[in-house]
Amino acid sequence: MSARESIISAAIFDLDGVIVDTAKYHYLAWKKLANEIGTDLSVEENERLKGVSRMDSLDIILSLGGLQFSEVEKVAMADKKNTWFVDYVNQMKPDEILPGAKNLLESCRANGIKVALGSSSKNAKAVLDLLKIAHLFDVIVDGTMIKKSKPDPEIFLLGASLLNIPPDQCIVFEDAEAGVEAALAANMRCIGLGSPAQLGKANLVIPDLKNFTIEDMINLVPIH
Ligand code: G6P
Ligand code: MG
Repeated sequence: MSARESIISAAIFDLDGVIVDTAKYHYLAWKKLANEIGTDLSVEENERLKGVSRMDSLDIILSLGGLQFSEVEKVAMADKKNTWFVDYVNQMKPDEILPGAKNLLESCRANGIKVALGSSSKNAKAVLDLLKIAHLFDVIVDGTMIKKSKPDPEIFLLGASLLNIPPDQCIVFEDAEAGVEAALAANMRCIGLGSPAQLGKANLVIPDLKNFTIEDMINLVPIH
């Protein structure tokens, strides 16, 4: 690794399952929809939906259930799922910010590391506003700004470009296999949050951010 590649100037965070515990609400809403259309969605199957756009997630559920619907019906189903998701999110309290996340965002900023959000969710900005943490991000890239969702690197490359930081100086925090693949395809380093079985391609896998400090990040990759 060259000296240039070994430094970190920006951290890009996924939202659902990294900063806030909304991954469970996506799952509950998709499962409710799956049950309504005569199929189901297991916790294991749900892993395939993480980081994936709303319509692509629906396509995965339909294909797992061997079901087919028209485009018009699919849009109506996705809208329904989103209404349920938004209802759950609107009842969320600031204590559903995942342990360690806010602390890491604040220490990145205090140490001069740029901070971006890279979430495929079209609800991302609303969630950040609700939790009153939007101000902790220099740049917010969400599902309304991209054409291809993870595992395509588009979302992270757009984040790096808006921050004006080269991709090889960015580190990504992700809980989804598709997100880890997107980060690596963008030529960024990646810390996976979750199980090594799911996220083994990441440069480091940790269970969550609870005990992860900026010192741990700096030990992994020097900053600036
Ligand atoms: C994130 C989540 C996915 C979700 C996607 C789109 O990537 O991990 O589970 O499907 O965003 O979210 P949206 O809020 O736009 O439906
Ligand atoms: Mg996620």
